[in-house]
Amino acid sequence: MLDIFCPTKYIIVATAAVIRINVTRRFGFIHIYDIIYDDEIQLMNSVKSLKTKDLLGLQGMSLEDLNLILKTAHSMKEIFTRPVKRVPPLLAKNIVTLFYEPSTRTRTSFHTAAKMLSASTQSVALSTSSVAKGETLIDTCKNIEAMGVDALIIRHSMAGAPHLVAKNIKASVINAGDGFNEHPTQGLLDIFTMLEKARTLKDKHIVIVGDIAHSRVARSDIWGLRALGAKVTVVGPPSLMPKDIEKTGAVVSYDIDKAIKDADFINVLRIQKERQKIGYFPSIEEYAQLYGLNSERLSRAKKDVVVMHPGPINRGVEMTSEVADSLQSVILEQVTNGVAVRMAVLFLLLGGKK
Ligand code: CP
Repeated sequence: MLDIFCPTKYIIVATAAVIRINVTRRFGFIHIYDIIYDDEIQLMNSVKSLKTKDLLGLQGMSLEDLNLILKTAHSMKEIFTRPVKRVPPLLAKNIVTLFYEPSTRTRTSFHTAAKMLSASTQSVALSTSSVAKGETLIDTCKNIEAMGVDALIIRHSMAGAPHLVAKNIKASVINAGDGFNEHPTQGLLDIFTMLEKARTLKDKHIVIVGDIAHSRVARSDIWGLRALGAKVTVVGPPSLMPKDIEKTGAVVSYDIDKAIKDADFINVLRIQKERQKIGYFPSIEEYAQLYGLNSERLSRAKKDVVVMHPGPINRGVEMTSEVADSLQSVILEQVTNGVAVRMAVLFLLLGGKK
């Protein structure tokens, strides 16, 4: 447990702050937030932070940073069990989400995470923003930064868009999914969820099933899991398997039944129905038959295999409802863990000692 989240420490800090508020109110020269912020700085200086300004991907992330995020997320999850699910480390920090693609889980959980850490959050609605008038990505982000924003969380259809923004602004940039490249916080929450089920991922077998070619989740999962010593197999139709994927250290298979036989975790990816028109696979029905996870197929895997999905699910396509809602499924636990992991990322980027 990190010191900063020790309830006793906060009681002491809060008591000290109340005493000081009473004194300063009387003399009327300091604002309440100045006092709490001052105490926060002292607390934040007692913990570590990430070495980087931004979180853009899991490829190349140091093992030290990866483990620090996972450990911090564990402390953050403890806050969920408290009657008051709010701690003050990011008080006075401003966080903006800028999503050029739809999202339910990622955007909402970043907002929830930021609020639990007492940060202020805003979401830029693209349809009513000046992006609709043709403003460039960099201009949009520079203008948002000019309003005193500390972190910008970006989802964009273009791979590398958050990297470009990160080079052009001083605020922290978090990649919430860029094209087919990476979705680092999804990778982190998937790994965190696996670590809640298995003490270590070293030599554990993780099978990722589906549209590997267009999946940023698959890439982030592979980079993170390989760094932690897991064995990763990617399974899908040849038309949805990217060239050179073996270079990541993942093993390629086109036979789901063979691949899941000794799997410890099966992470099923969404089939992007819009791609079906392009002809990556003959029909949704055929895909479901050849690669969909159903109870019959799952019964031939290990009894304690854990089933995962980053969401949103196409029920009856990549996975049946029976499997999605089974006791082996941890899909909603992944969503809960997404808040803890995003709290950890925000805290380690915006708080702590550099
Ligand atoms: N897993 C995920 O990224 O979901 P959203 O698209 O709803 O954010």
